[in-house]
Amino acid sequence: MILSPSMLSSDFANMESELKALEKAGLEWVHLDIMDGMFVPNITFGPPIIKAMRAKSNLFFDCHLMVNDPGRYVESFTEAGADLICVHAEACTHLERVCTQIAETGAKPAVALNPHTSLESIRYLLPQLYMVLIMSVNPGFGGQKFIPFCLDKVKELKGMITEAGADTLIQIDGGVTAENARELTEAGVDVLVSGSAFFGHPPYAERLKTFQNACK
Ligand code: DX5
Ligand code: ZN
Repeated sequence: MILSPSMLSSDFANMESELKALEKAGLEWVHLDIMDGMFVPNITFGPPIIKAMRAKSNLFFDCHLMVNDPGRYVESFTEAGADLICVHAEACTHLERVCTQIAETGAKPAVALNPHTSLESIRYLLPQLYMVLIMSVNPGFGGQKFIPFCLDKVKELKGMITEAGADTLIQIDGGVTAENARELTEAGVDVLVSGSAFFGHPPYAERLKTFQNACK
């Protein structure tokens, strides 16, 4: 199980110390939520901030782009230091092209699906995807409640990946807690994103351990 804490719930005025604290606590990934105020109602940050963060951290930058037509920004995000770029299927007219573009820049390609979006939209892309992100809330804000049917969606996706003989990772994002972590990993989730349930309970090393123990 990989835990990718969502910086959306961190202290934005002290990003450097937050990143260092995550590294010190033994985290390897960090989830960066990029919102454009169009695809989702909220606005966060973009490549310049990620570049500044990159200069202070060696964590794996898991970049979740909640922006319309993300192909316009793929190169800027990789140059800024993104290790993985996850785009929403709903935001791309030519999803295959964008995924190829991400891989060409050297970042790992991933696709996110809103809760209602069918898995069919990524079936044929699985062999070229490093990860699929199942959104378990409607994106835009931290601290929302997990939508229960997303658990079935994870199970179905796991079957689809096995059937395709792919090694695509499954990530889940939204309303993840130490309480539901176990049923999620049992259903096939490889990467748990946690914002409020992680940053709201320091110290981070202990929080990581709580999630790890919950999944044992
Ligand atoms: C929501 C974001 C999430 C968010 C999760 O649109 O994509 O990454 O930070 O926050 P929690 O874990 O609080 O639901
Ligand atoms: Zn996210």
